[in-house]
Amino acid sequence: MTVHTGRHFLQIPGPTNVPDRVLRAMDRPVIDHRGPEFAKLGAEVLEALRPIFQTKDPVVIYPASGSGAWEASIVNTLSPGNRVLMFETGHFSSLWRQVAERMGLVVDYVPGNWRRGASSADAQSRLSADKGHAIKAVMVVHNETSTGVTSRIAEIRKAIDGAHHPALLMVDTISSLASMDYRHDEWGVDVTVAGSQKGLMLPPGLSFNAISEKALAANKTAKSPRYYWDWQEMLKPNRQGFFPYTPATNLLWGLREALLMLQEEGLSNVFRRHQRHGEATRAAVRAWGLEIVCENALEYSNSLTAVFMPEGHDADRFRAVVLENFDMSLGSGLSQLAGRVFRIGHLGHFNDLMLAGTLSGVEMGLRLAGVPHRPGGVAAALESLLTSQSGTQKRVPENVLS
Ligand SMILES: Cc1ncc(COP(=O)(O)O)c(C=O)c1O
Repeated sequence: MTVHTGRHFLQIPGPTNVPDRVLRAMDRPVIDHRGPEFAKLGAEVLEALRPIFQTKDPVVIYPASGSGAWEASIVNTLSPGNRVLMFETGHFSSLWRQVAERMGLVVDYVPGNWRRGASSADAQSRLSADKGHAIKAVMVVHNETSTGVTSRIAEIRKAIDGAHHPALLMVDTISSLASMDYRHDEWGVDVTVAGSQKGLMLPPGLSFNAISEKALAANKTAKSPRYYWDWQEMLKPNRQGFFPYTPATNLLWGLREALLMLQEEGLSNVFRRHQRHGEATRAAVRAWGLEIVCENALEYSNSLTAVFMPEGHDADRFRAVVLENFDMSLGSGLSQLAGRVFRIGHLGHFNDLMLAGTLSGVEMGLRLAGVPHRPGGVAAALESLLTSQSGTQKRVPENVLS
């Protein structure tokens, strides 16, 4: 086996690179989760999370991976037998659908080609046809991590309003939160699902629900059995900064530090940075003459880019060549895209030179693996980075944390 030196490049679209600051913030003795020091930590992170979701609503934190927050969104708002509307955007929309079906929901799954986002036109026509309001929720994955396609949530909101339909809107932002503009309040989202291991720059292990008043009202009548995920049990102790069970204490110290870093950079600068890195990556892919999976420029993801391999070439073999030679992990193609697609993660704790290194690894890997391509992708990305270099805007800190 090759001995690698320097840092591993973790360029999968989550989990992402964890900043040293965050690692150091977690490297401390575990504290009493029922004591005063924890109460302060809990209250601080619960408050400082809200601006990240662009909400004034409460956000709850589960010691769980993102799948837990998926299940929580469903069992807290719906009852077995309820009908919901979901959109086939890719691997993760199909998994969320499976969660819904296992919880006894009836899913109207709008078919998709895994290259486009959720269709607001389909949403509006299906909701308009549902005169009896049997559909209780519309559920959309904001950024489909398997394809690098971002659905336009503001358009889905307009479609629901246009159909004068009372369904809840639930959105999975696991690979978009703190990377791409996402507005829980302004877009009228009722439940936002998120996770720690991507834009929030933390290790895996925390997940979140942001909860609207309408979702809280639905919670009062929802009959799905729940214990661990129950919002009411969580919200009561949260008022004092506590949890109903043992929280992931040290991850919360990491979360505090990550939120501080996002606050220092300013959310609009975070979004701008991801946009520049998304654009530069797409410039590289085009220069290589390879095909981006997302087929609508309005729906390009700025947190990852999924790329088709030319016919007859195996994406997993290419990824293995890159890992072996350059110690870089790239994302695999998932389910129906297995072997056909590789994914470049460009989200979280990241900068121009890390992107340049990442794309250099891809370009050298393409050559070593004998994948037909044109050279010059890295040069195109550098050009894109230079021409979009507008500098970080100074901002007045909001001082949620200090
Ligand atoms: C969009 C999206 N939703 C849900 C999940 C599932 O989250 P987890 O693997 O943390 O349970 C992922 C994981 O990558 C994801 O990218």
